[in-house]
Amino acid sequence: MVHNPMVHDPVFLEIFSNDRINGFLEAALDEHCILYACTSSSMPPHGTNYSGRIHVDCPRVIPGYPTNIGFLIAFDDFTRENGATYFLPRSFERTDPPDDAEFFDNAARPLPRAGDAILFNARTWHMGGQNKTDRYRHAFTMNVCRSYMRQRFDYPRLLGEGLLETLDERALKRLGYRVRVPVDLDEYYVPPEQRLYLGGQG
Ligand SMILES: [Fe+2]
Repeated sequence: MVHNPMVHDPVFLEIFSNDRINGFLEAALDEHCILYACTSSSMPPHGTNYSGRIHVDCPRVIPGYPTNIGFLIAFDDFTRENGATYFLPRSFERTDPPDDAEFFDNAARPLPRAGDAILFNARTWHMGGQNKTDRYRHAFTMNVCRSYMRQRFDYPRLLGEGLLETLDERALKRLGYRVRVPVDLDEYYVPPEQRLYLGGQG
């Protein structure tokens, strides 16, 4: 698992400018949604990884109101043999974990091809499978949350001010650059368009 792969290769920043990806994320949450976390997800040959347990990617349930969306991009074809993720359909509002029998009897196993993506309510009970092949299976995952929530990392501080000059507005918003908070009165008393916190006001 590589945390924050865009720190290692800027090609991963393109995900946050991608219109199709942003369209799905904004439809699922809203136009102000921000990145909570992102990592690579590689399933080693003849093994599994940290996702290989029945779990959810979000601790809270607010009925009828998703706070976190999972988005997985397959870099290799997912197959039943190389560890394709199990999802328990419609399980996103239940707080009690399903037992193994219920989970495996009812789980769905979508099989994205390389380049396909899966979007899911991050409260859905799910689990990475076992890779029974001789090859790694690679993917990218991110978790996107509401604009007024905290990010797992302080992405604007991690990625730096330089991106303000190079990234488009949608990517800046997604990475959290529009929900920063002022550090002092000089940063607080500024014209509305220069405010550090713009998210969720519209
Ligand atoms: Fe997960």
